[in-house]
Amino acid sequence: MRYFDCVIIGAGAAGLMCGATAAKRGKRVAILDHSDKVGKKILMSGGGRCNFTNYNIEPSHYVSANPHFCISALRRYTPYDFLALVKKFQLEFEEKNQGQLFCKNKSNDILRILLAECDAGGVETVTRCTIEGVEQTAGAQGARFQLATSSGPFACRSLVIATGGLSIPAVGATGYGHAIAKKFGLRVTPRYASLVPFTLKGELLSLAQALAGVSVPVTVACREQSFADSLLFTHKGLSGPAILQISNYWYPGDAIEIDFLPGEHFVSLLNDWQKQGNKRELKSLLTGYLPKRFVSVWLASHEIAAGVHNKPITQYSKAEIKYLADHFHRWQCIPAGTEGYGTAEVTRGGIDTEDVSSKSFEAKQVPGLFFIGEVLDVTGWLGGYNLHWAWASGYCAAQYV
Ligand code: FDA
Repeated sequence: MRYFDCVIIGAGAAGLMCGATAAKRGKRVAILDHSDKVGKKILMSGGGRCNFTNYNIEPSHYVSANPHFCISALRRYTPYDFLALVKKFQLEFEEKNQGQLFCKNKSNDILRILLAECDAGGVETVTRCTIEGVEQTAGAQGARFQLATSSGPFACRSLVIATGGLSIPAVGATGYGHAIAKKFGLRVTPRYASLVPFTLKGELLSLAQALAGVSVPVTVACREQSFADSLLFTHKGLSGPAILQISNYWYPGDAIEIDFLPGEHFVSLLNDWQKQGNKRELKSLLTGYLPKRFVSVWLASHEIAAGVHNKPITQYSKAEIKYLADHFHRWQCIPAGTEGYGTAEVTRGGIDTEDVSSKSFEAKQVPGLFFIGEVLDVTGWLGGYNLHWAWASGYCAAQYV
């Protein structure tokens, strides 16, 4: 039996941050992971350049049944704290739109930093380690948990679950954290694939397929939340950052509403062109505002539905203009579903935060058992928010393990 002050299950973003920080406090730490390599999601993040945090970290950019849960940790570990680490290692980074911070080189730079910090603190990292059982114990050296694993038995005073969410099973994601939470009596909220493209069916799917590959700046809204960013039509439905963002707020059966001309006013534009006596077709005038292929397909589909066919701008009636305006500014559709965990960046929902302390991340009813990162019911927006949650929750829990 090997004794550690703290055993962490999951060598991802949260687990590595927690391990490195706890080791700095003088704790003897082991991190166990069933994968062959640590930090696989860090490596895939940000298209290989890891969007590691965001200057605009705020509790309102996180979704949870308890929106107050994340406040304390986000106050105690800010983007500037992670940047201090990045700067300590002289890692080159750059700010992209909306405060997103990316590595200038590769995601591996971030993993390297975390592993260096773990090494400096003597953290033991064990990969290809299957957890076969976890039991509470009153063992020697104050151990509160005993683990049976494929790498032998471990005992620890603090056990941290950092096994992440369900997305991308191909890189080792499992529902282990949710299962162990249930085993120890914690509640788990319903889980959904999130930050994920939508799938469409029937005529909507045909429309998306006709436009596959076309990207349009839009505003998309659902359940009183909206995002302005680009939308990408795909062979399965709708994707792009605007769609991924709104998927965090979408429930099956909800309609989403899309404005394809945000910041413009379709009726005023047409009225102005009519007043100018413009003889050109609507299609050619709209290509000044939207991609040509989008305008052709969109107008063809909606003009036909309205009984309108290509004609000079001056010949559109008020009713036709209103009909088309609705389809450019307030187009509604009900997605058939999402592309699921195979594509999703995160899992929305998870361990009920009512059962976990927002200060220490310890289970309220199970002394010594901690939950951090994506396994909890805290889901961030696209843009570095989820990794920041992993850093912040890992750092805060490490003060109490
Ligand atoms: P994480 O998933 O990182 O780690 C969990 C670890 O637990 C893994 O190493 C896994 O192998 C291990 N594990 C699971 N089950 C186990 C078991 N039964 N036994 C032992 N070990 C087990 N976020 C962001 O802020 N910026 C970005 O750029 C991106 N980009 C991005 C791209 C893609 C493609 C994905 C899929 C996700 C992102 N994300 C992101 C989200 C971000 O990667 C994610 O939220 C964090 O990695 C979550 O950190 P955790 O440590 O909680 O879990």
